[in-house]
Amino acid sequence: MKHRLLILPGDGIGPEVVGQAVRVIEALQQRHGFDCELTQGLVGGAAIDVHGSPLPDETLKKAETADAVLMGAVGGPKWDAIPREIRPERGLLKIRSALGLFANLRPCLCFDELAGASTLKPEVLKGLDILIVRELTGGIYYGQPRGIVQENGERVGVNTERYSESEIERIAHSAFTFARLRNKRVCSVDKANVLESSQLWREMVEKVARSYADIELSHMYVDNAAMQLVRAPRNFDVLVTGNLFGDILSDIGAQLTGSIGMLPSASLNLSGKGLYEPVHGSAPDIAGLGLANPLATILSLALLLRYSLKKKMLADKVEAAVKAVLAGGLRTADIARAGEKSISTSEMGQAVVDQL
Ligand code: IPM
Ligand code: MG
Repeated sequence: MKHRLLILPGDGIGPEVVGQAVRVIEALQQRHGFDCELTQGLVGGAAIDVHGSPLPDETLKKAETADAVLMGAVGGPKWDAIPREIRPERGLLKIRSALGLFANLRPCLCFDELAGASTLKPEVLKGLDILIVRELTGGIYYGQPRGIVQENGERVGVNTERYSESEIERIAHSAFTFARLRNKRVCSVDKANVLESSQLWREMVEKVARSYADIELSHMYVDNAAMQLVRAPRNFDVLVTGNLFGDILSDIGAQLTGSIGMLPSASLNLSGKGLYEPVHGSAPDIAGLGLANPLATILSLALLLRYSLKKKMLADKVEAAVKAVLAGGLRTADIARAGEKSISTSEMGQAVVDQL
């Protein structure tokens, strides 16, 4: 069966890192019988420059007909001054919402070879393997009313945190389902001591938990969760939380692993279609210099193969290739230790291709 993939390179280092993932796809096509057809599209600043919109209809149409989407990153200083309704990040929020990609999976896996790359002690991190399940199409990111309004002679910035029962239920089901494939523990993170939306969150997660008797559920307030993630991260297995808390906690998770340049993510809808992207941003300061680490994007491709295309064997192959490259001592600048030699974006891509 021929799979259709949409490639959205985006801005900054996006095109460079996605370019390496495309080389990996080509190697899978040539050497491992992977049958797929690639199309490209514009998103973010790159789309603003051509179409005046961060998510042109044409791109959205391609995304709707593709089996899965692989994206680089969006945004950069070039587009900082434009009206906030059409900023590059809005393109990302729009595609998440238009495709119904409510379940954002952010695995935080510390490769043993890189345990020294984090600012935390290696003994706290060794063997770290947690999965953050972030709700991605609700909460304060999308809640109405929002805006900047005039009130009593001054401006007031307004956003609204809101979660419906059904939104909480479906993300809870995702978290419990993924926990079943792992160590069967879910920690739900909220701020139920202050927020009504969190009180409902906790109630609904507990309700869903009754259908998963084999899974151990705990709850934690988000401030404590931030602290526990740094103090004893291996105590977590699956962590499920809302959009804003998940945004923040997943950056902590990224730092635990030593390099945000290593972290893939998947955003899934109910039909299994997904958007796959590295957790890192567009890093405009190093764009075009060949310094970026393409492994987060290559590992995102592995998630794409695993979750949307159900190609477990190919996903395993890509992940094993990345592991082998790291074990062989190859490092891009972000994961190299002081004084250690580092290689370029395309050399890293080539090294992975060579392993396949
Ligand atoms: C992320 C990013 C995005 C988010 C930005 C770029 C809109 O930080 O994917 O974590 O806040 O969701
Ligand atoms: Mg973020």
